[in-house]
Amino acid sequence: MDVKTIAVIGAGTMGRGIAYAAAFGGYHTVLEDVSRPVVDEGLAWIRRSFEEGVTRGKVDASVRDRALSLISTAGDVGDAIRDAELIIEAVPEELEMKLELFTIFDKFAKTGAIFASNTSSLSIADFTDVTVSRDRCVGMHFFNPVPKMKLIELVRTPHTSDETVATCREVARRMGKEVVVVNEAPGFITTRVNALIGNEAFNMLEAGIATPEDIDKALKLGLNHPMGPFELVDLVGLDVRLKILEYLHQTLGEKYRPNSLLRQYVEEGRLGRKTGRGVYDYSQQKAAENKT
Ligand SMILES: NC(=O)c1ccc[n+]([C@@H]2O[C@H](COP(=O)([O-])OP(=O)(O)OC[C@H]3O[C@@H](n4cnc5c(N)ncnc54)[C@H](O)[C@@H]3O)[C@@H](O)[C@H]2O)c1
Repeated sequence: MDVKTIAVIGAGTMGRGIAYAAAFGGYHTVLEDVSRPVVDEGLAWIRRSFEEGVTRGKVDASVRDRALSLISTAGDVGDAIRDAELIIEAVPEELEMKLELFTIFDKFAKTGAIFASNTSSLSIADFTDVTVSRDRCVGMHFFNPVPKMKLIELVRTPHTSDETVATCREVARRMGKEVVVVNEAPGFITTRVNALIGNEAFNMLEAGIATPEDIDKALKLGLNHPMGPFELVDLVGLDVRLKILEYLHQTLGEKYRPNSLLRQYVEEGRLGRKTGRGVYDYSQQKAAENKT
């Protein structure tokens, strides 16, 4: 199917990034969230990200102008998806939420539209089996921050058609991304490996083996990781990571049991950059951002 319009449902950390990539790829892009302030923040973030791209010489001013002119917002899911040939959901990692949305997509989307989930761990079939369009359901797992990260994991269920995979490949190409295709399994490739490393970092921190700064430094300089595990979890969100670990623990076994310090931080509201504090403190940056 020829994709002209992409609807992005959820405008949080990932949804706004996916909307950026969709508009960058030249698609009409509709962004929607249950919270209107989040949509507004998302739009402001997209504008800032394009400006940053232009300043760093990564994005042409003409691409920025065209991309920004292609983005619109919608007041509810029904409005957002009406004209879309590809719908990508980026709502929280809760099976019930995804189930509910995919049921709505199936009822109200355009005939032939593809339904994609940005879930970072859940089994796609667990919520796409409810739709009659199982051949047009797929995982499109983007990475944070989307404008800078090159990869999309395309996750196919036993029912996903080759045509659906081919269409998503082409969309990814126009977004400037690379693709790997994964047969559905909890955590796909990247989440499965990353969750283990991140959990082990918390195990070491809890055991008093080293400071967060030194654990991050060791993985960056000793193992050539571009970011330390704590810098990364602060970006991803500690709550998001905890949910992933809980799911992998349930589906893949004991080695994924979530660390108790991670759980404690989430209970205390230390969710990462988005709340101003995770493993590290970002309250000053957050205050500065809110002023702009
Ligand atoms: N955070 C990451 O680094 C990351 C990376 C890859 C994938 N993911 C996955 O992406 C998804 C979203 O994660 P996030 O970090 O962007 O979460 P987030 O909490 O930042 O954003 C989710 C947004 O969805 C909105 N929402 C909730 N229910 C909705 C509904 N019914 N309709 C429309 N909007 C709704 C919320 O208001 C919120 O703004 C999750 O499945 C997560 O596992 C996250």
